[in-house]
Amino acid sequence: MISLSQILDKAQVARLSLGLDDIVQLLSLEGASEIEALFHAAYRVKERYIGRNVSIRGLIESGNVCAKDCLYCGIRKSNTNVTRYSMTADEIVALSRRAKEFGYASIVIQSGEIESEVHTAMIEEVLERVRPLNLGITLSLGEQSAETYRRWREAGASRYLLRIETSNKELYSTLHPADHSWERRKECLSSLAECGYQLGTGVMIGLPGQTMVDLARDIMFFGEVDADMIGMGPFIPHHDTPFKNASSEGNFLLGLKMIAATRLYLHDVNIAAATALQALDPKGREKGILAGANVIMPNMTEVKYRDAYALYDGKPCTGENAAECRACLDRRIEAIGEKILYGKTGDSPHYFAKSR
Ligand code: 5AD
Ligand code: FES
Repeated sequence: MISLSQILDKAQVARLSLGLDDIVQLLSLEGASEIEALFHAAYRVKERYIGRNVSIRGLIESGNVCAKDCLYCGIRKSNTNVTRYSMTADEIVALSRRAKEFGYASIVIQSGEIESEVHTAMIEEVLERVRPLNLGITLSLGEQSAETYRRWREAGASRYLLRIETSNKELYSTLHPADHSWERRKECLSSLAECGYQLGTGVMIGLPGQTMVDLARDIMFFGEVDADMIGMGPFIPHHDTPFKNASSEGNFLLGLKMIAATRLYLHDVNIAAATALQALDPKGREKGILAGANVIMPNMTEVKYRDAYALYDGKPCTGENAAECRACLDRRIEAIGEKILYGKTGDSPHYFAKSR
């Protein structure tokens, strides 16, 4: 086994230079000073490509109606204790304008998975109406046909986030009903790349039955699909799901280590400090930035809908409105000596660095 400092030195030299064993070793670190060295090395790589800057996207949770039944998710179809909502095109457009006024040059539109012409056309209409705002637009609307992805891309979306959830197919099958297909999700990532989106994927960290090797393979999977953006966060049980009794112990630290190891492996991609980090630690997102992440997604959703979009228990900011989240983030980011890039779309450097 090579030493920690050898691994960290090797990682600095070029992207994709770590092997599976190296990544497992990073994720398994236990000593406080070694973990600090990992975060520090990842932060240096982040600084090299992105500076001491944080990109910001206004998050619009456009609806919680979902055709899927993922065993871990609070808005799964079988959860009858959720009040379902779907924002209208007008509501989404209004929130997009609000994001622009706040100086957020990018937005993320996220919802449960719905594959219907009505929904596809509604999103298309939203994209066409917000096009004049020149926002960077990420969609996070789940698995769709290649045709739908193409329509949304043509209507103005430039990025798409579709988490693979876990790169381990067998583990995936223990977390989802039999009609949910890992292969289809993987194919969706290929069609998204073909459409020319900045490609985002990610996983949950600390899932029941997940090993360090699985997580290390997840990071290598991000490299294999040539992801431009990574959105991943700790698994946190939701009380109305079959995983209600699972534990999230250790998942916060593991989440930070995953951010750091991903930064060391992929170098110039955008990595989000997920809101789920803050559900487990009051300074979770700041700690995510200091471990190598560079994107934060303050919630723009109107407070009346926020509780209904609970994917996991203890979701933060459900009582705060968009303006409060903006002020809160300003303080938090400034406190760690980083600057929020207001007015900048904050595209993935990797997308422009690679030849397509
Ligand atoms: N804990 C953490 N993340 C979750 N997600 C869904 N349920 C949970 C949970 N219980 C994540 C999934 C999904 C994203 C929108 O939310 O990774 O892709
Ligand atoms: Fe919402 Fe802090 S970001 S309250």
